[in-house]
Amino acid sequence: MSSVVTPYNQSSSKKQQVAEMFDNIAPRYDFLNHFLSLGIDILWRKKAIRLLKKHRPKTILDIATGTGDFAIEALKLNPEKVTGIDISEKMLEVGIEKISKKGLSEKIHLQKADSENLPFEENFFDAITAGFGVRNFENLEKGLSEMYRVLRENGMVVILEFSQPDQFPIKQFYNFYFFKLLPAIGKIISKDSRAYTYLPESVSAFPYGNQFLNVMQKTGFHELKYYPLSFGVASIYIGRKGKHPVGV
Ligand SMILES: C[S@@+](CC[C@H](N)C(=O)[O-])C[C@H]1O[C@@H](n2cnc3c(N)ncnc32)[C@H](O)[C@@H]1O
Repeated sequence: MSSVVTPYNQSSSKKQQVAEMFDNIAPRYDFLNHFLSLGIDILWRKKAIRLLKKHRPKTILDIATGTGDFAIEALKLNPEKVTGIDISEKMLEVGIEKISKKGLSEKIHLQKADSENLPFEENFFDAITAGFGVRNFENLEKGLSEMYRVLRENGMVVILEFSQPDQFPIKQFYNFYFFKLLPAIGKIISKDSRAYTYLPESVSAFPYGNQFLNVMQKTGFHELKYYPLSFGVASIYIGRKGKHPVGV
């Protein structure tokens, strides 16, 4: 599969480096997200959550929730509860404050946890969401397997992740923006010299389209589909858990 791209090229694990990087950029993460994507990331999250509408999930787990934007958007589905987990304490702190200011603390609970070792029973959640998180996993298959384990039978997973546009001239414009402009602006505003270089590098090394669906299939999901967004700059992947555990 993909080569391992880490934020700081240190000897520590990818997981530790990712947590450190998001801790560093947490105070400016929301602003940079919306600024660098011209607000399009908000529309992508909305579209992803709409795909869950007819499933009416009552319990939702938002993986790699960060500052909680996907968890907040998931309230449109009128669930009883949304649980968000992340390994970065500082991202969670920003999220918890935002959720509290919006008066949503009764509905959304954020906690520190690792996607590759989820502290929940199997078959627990009706739906699982993950926005721009899976690319940062140290072990993608382990993370997806854990999502599969805690999802209830027939439950649905919705993953939103960056992908790569293939068409001329979008591809050329995207490459210029993503590899040249974005790291320069990101560095100035986030004050982290690597975070916005790691972003395009990690996207380049990450599977997308059918390749990503193959990994989902390998970890047990079925009824797989993907929807490219904005000429393929991002994609939504959906899948379901079958009635029987993998291998049975
Ligand atoms: C780009 S942010 C996405 C935040 C949010 N989901 C959104 O849509 O804006 C990626 C998040 O993934 C988290 N993350 C990376 N690896 C993780 C893991 N193994 N377990 C939990 N969270 C993880 C990072 O700490 C970071 O907050």
